[in-house]
Amino acid sequence: MAVDLTVNVCGIEFKNPIVIASATPTKDAKYMKKAVDSGAGAIIAKSISSEEMMRKYVRPRFTILYKKGWPYCFSNYSCEFLATYTPEDWVNELKEVKKYCERNNTILIGSVAGKDVDDWIKLSKMVMEAGVDMIELNFGCPHPKGLKMGFELGRDAKICAEIVKSVKSIVNIPIFAKLTPEGVDVVEVAKELEKAGVDGITAINRYPALDIDIESCRPLLHSTFAGVGGPWMLPITLKWIAKLAMEIKIPISATNGIWTWQDIVKCIMCGASTVQTCTAIMYGRFGYGIVKNFIDGLKEFMERKGFNKINEFKGIILNQILPFDKIDRDTKLWSVVNEEKCNGCRLCLNWCFYDAITMRTIGKKEIASIDKMKCDGCGLCVSLCPMNAITMEGARVYL
Ligand SMILES: Cc1cc2nc3c(=O)[nH]c(=O)nc-3n(C[C@H](O)[C@H](O)[C@H](O)COP(=O)(O)O)c2cc1C
Ligand code: SF4
Ligand code: SF4
Repeated sequence: MAVDLTVNVCGIEFKNPIVIASATPTKDAKYMKKAVDSGAGAIIAKSISSEEMMRKYVRPRFTILYKKGWPYCFSNYSCEFLATYTPEDWVNELKEVKKYCERNNTILIGSVAGKDVDDWIKLSKMVMEAGVDMIELNFGCPHPKGLKMGFELGRDAKICAEIVKSVKSIVNIPIFAKLTPEGVDVVEVAKELEKAGVDGITAINRYPALDIDIESCRPLLHSTFAGVGGPWMLPITLKWIAKLAMEIKIPISATNGIWTWQDIVKCIMCGASTVQTCTAIMYGRFGYGIVKNFIDGLKEFMERKGFNKINEFKGIILNQILPFDKIDRDTKLWSVVNEEKCNGCRLCLNWCFYDAITMRTIGKKEIASIDKMKCDGCGLCVSLCPMNAITMEGARVYL
């Protein structure tokens, strides 16, 4: 039987849980149509803003940190602001894309970044009237503006709650709040907004950050702070998704660090209803084509595991997260070296802080040897051995 990828979010059916995040890949109608063609369940238009400074870009604005780690571990370090269009022109782009979305069974989400309560109301009304199915309020943009916008606003749960209430009073479609992880307890902010009536939470936007070019003695890009994210962010995103799923009842959309279909599965297992992607399209090998890989991977996984619907594994790990005092401290483990695989590089001698590893000679070969009594089972040598020559054995003991 074919697996069912559909998800229902606030009464709206998405054909699959993959959402193209609000960013460069949805920067105008032409690119939003490419996003639709990718097969994603929904697309989120680039954030609309009345603030002229947010519509005028710097050049260059994209770079990559730790490039040697690409494709699996690098930083997307970039400084792009909001949609370059005026709100009036942006509405026309949205109207054009709306028709295309309808023909392709794709949900269209508008993203709004106001500068005061009245502006949030005005912009939300404009995107709703353009025909979007949902709205995402951008409380998380990582670029410091010295204005009460983006993460500088998102840290103030009270004002965000006021905005949510005001927007809710004039729109009749679901609204999500996209939160910042910068200097806040994301769960506390989400709870306030849930009380204020928000329909869902998007977690989490990127961090404001700084890197330096030491040769020119200058900050990277253009002498100010940039947004940082990328695949390394995923564990932080998963933590927030899981914590949110345990504390709030409204749906959660995961964003930040999603790079493979396995990452999508992880987000859903933590309780996300939908999973957003941006960097994987912008910095990856396949552009928008990555969405097909995501869908194929998700289907193959579900078939293999016998899951017919997304809901069958949504939040599946949550009841396995233990309080600190309940963690198993009684199992004793020790490392064992596979003599065939060990090449005698001696690196593990540096990693053992328990003096458990020595080298011994077998014939002409030198190999690592582990003293089971001294080994603390810390796992460091197992993780780092370049030959994967060390494994762990163990037994549950009560000391
Ligand atoms: C170049 C760039 C532009 C972005 N523009 C927006 C934006 O206009 N509105 C918004 O809510 N988020 C914006 N974001 C954040 C993304 O929507 C997304 O949440 C973030 O990049 C984390 O996901 P990822 O790891 O898949 O990139 C932008 C991100 C990048 C890299
Ligand atoms: S790091 Fe691995 S390969 Fe190198 S000596 Fe230790 S066990 Fe052998
Ligand atoms: S598991 Fe830890 S304590 Fe045991 S040998 Fe390896 S590094 Fe040493």
